[in-house]
Amino acid sequence: MEIKRVGIIGAGTMGAGIAQVCLQSGYQVFLCDANQQVLDKAKGSITARLQKLNQEDTLSNLNLITQIVDLASCHVVIEAVPERLELKRAIFQELAQVCSDDSLLLSNTSSISITEIAAGIPHPERILGFHFFNPAPVMPLVEVIVGYQSGQEEAEQALQFAAKLGKKPVKVKDSPGFIVNRVARPYYNEALRIVGDGIASVEQIDRIMTGAGGFKMGPFALQDLIGIDINFATTQSVYQGFFQESRFKPSRLQERMVQAGTLGKKTGGGFYEYTN
Ligand SMILES: NC(=O)c1ccc[n+]([C@@H]2O[C@H](COP(=O)([O-])OP(=O)(O)OC[C@H]3O[C@@H](n4cnc5c(N)ncnc54)[C@H](O)[C@@H]3O)[C@@H](O)[C@H]2O)c1
Repeated sequence: MEIKRVGIIGAGTMGAGIAQVCLQSGYQVFLCDANQQVLDKAKGSITARLQKLNQEDTLSNLNLITQIVDLASCHVVIEAVPERLELKRAIFQELAQVCSDDSLLLSNTSSISITEIAAGIPHPERILGFHFFNPAPVMPLVEVIVGYQSGQEEAEQALQFAAKLGKKPVKVKDSPGFIVNRVARPYYNEALRIVGDGIASVEQIDRIMTGAGGFKMGPFALQDLIGIDINFATTQSVYQGFFQESRFKPSRLQERMVQAGTLGKKTGGGFYEYTN
């Protein structure tokens, strides 16, 4: 199968970035979101970034759609909707009916089991995890997650597709948090506990981790970039995936911030305030 048309479901933080990556690699892109305003915003941000790179000619390959049925002709579909198992399963059920049996159906999930997403869906061998990092146009790593029923041949196709996108893919067996998010949970969780215990402030921890630790971003600025809701959902999912091992226990502070709707950059405030 030659991949020419790529569908992306969810035009939020990740979907918009993934769409840009696919446009830059010469694919026809069908960007789907339930919300037309989100699609318009995504197009605006993709346009601005491509203009900066002098690649705005690729925008003619961008199609904005609101119905999954319009992804029928895509050779690859990447799902990037919020981190909720039932929502993702419903989307894959619909995709399985709409897309051809040899299409690749990929999920950008941060932590949900690919095995569980694919269970009971026709031709589960074509369902794999395809985990980009934020911002997708900048970060080179893609985790290709192989679920219990994912096909080895399909995994190879996904690895080759990632390489064509200019990414550095790594093949990972399905397990809670895969590799990166498993390693990253203690980074966020311990930082949140240090603040909760009154040992150091958000600003101090970020300053220490960047200034002295050599990290590009501290744990709190990074949560604001990712979205505190997305980060919290990932921690919850890894915690459940490890049968509630205490080392992965989610933070109450993070939960409160999600309940309050202070989700980071995307809502104008999280651990820090964002005026623009
Ligand atoms: N934010 C990150 O840093 C990051 C990094 C890697 C992976 N991820 C994963 O990527 C996925 C998306 O995260 P995000 O941060 O882009 O979320 P987001 O909230 O920014 O965007 C999700 C989008 O999905 C749309 N959507 C919801 N239901 C839909 C439906 N039924 N049909 C079509 N569109 C629908 C919403 O309108 C929204 O625009 C999650 O699984 C997340 O765990 C996120």
